[in-house]
Amino acid sequence: MAPEDAAIAHLRAAGFSGPYALAIVTGTGLGALVEAVADRVSLDYAAIPGFPAPGVSGHGGRLHRGRLSGRPVLVFEGRTHAYETGNAAAMRVPLATAQGLGAARLLLTNAAGSLRPEIGPGRLVMLADHINLSGLNPLIGEPSDARFVPMTEAYDPGLRAHLSAAAEAIGLSLPTGVYAWFSGPSFETPAEVRMAGILGADLVGMSTVPETILARFLGMPVAAISVATNLAAGIAGGDPHHAETKAVAARAGADLARLAAGFVGRLPEP
Ligand code: HPA
Repeated sequence: MAPEDAAIAHLRAAGFSGPYALAIVTGTGLGALVEAVADRVSLDYAAIPGFPAPGVSGHGGRLHRGRLSGRPVLVFEGRTHAYETGNAAAMRVPLATAQGLGAARLLLTNAAGSLRPEIGPGRLVMLADHINLSGLNPLIGEPSDARFVPMTEAYDPGLRAHLSAAAEAIGLSLPTGVYAWFSGPSFETPAEVRMAGILGADLVGMSTVPETILARFLGMPVAAISVATNLAAGIAGGDPHHAETKAVAARAGADLARLAAGFVGRLPEP
């Protein structure tokens, strides 16, 4: 039995069978997206066998099914981060469960620090690519040859085109950027942020990359949106703070909800 089988059976019995046009993972402070989901049915992660319990304030730890723009969606409100336990594969069971229930694709969202002064707090950025600076990988220990996952075009070009079109339709500026994954939980030093910039990063953050790798391993197309909640350490004066991350993300949540709704409305039937 695969580790996600118990969760899939439990959720099917609870009325969570798909297909779903999209599965969404909400980042820190971004739970407001959930409010936009109509006809919602919700379950605590704690009630789902094999699901990890997110331990970060700003993360709900609930799974929702419902409709966004009339389309069936599955929303993971809150994620478990690699920095909570050192396990980069913490989201493997939830993502494999989404796929097992019939989610055709995945939208990851996160709060991130911006390296670009013109992309200030509250702005949304679409990920074009990432750099894994964590030294971790969720597929370490995976025995099958499927572990050798290609990561070219990890962020699906077709989904990115739909996101850009959805942003344009609502008059939202949506620049693209490269996201560098640091393990956290401490924020980066200014020297680390400078290094990430030299390497080609536009954003720094502590999530998303392991989930992108897992989704590509599972064969799910992925798109990802960062909310820049602050300028990264050393880019402007002051320290990043978790409280600021949550507060700015909550304000940007409305833009993210509108974008996600427009995006899912453009996707082909699952
Ligand atoms: N660094 C890493 N993760 C973050 C940041 C940051 O500056 N802001 C929000 N999440």
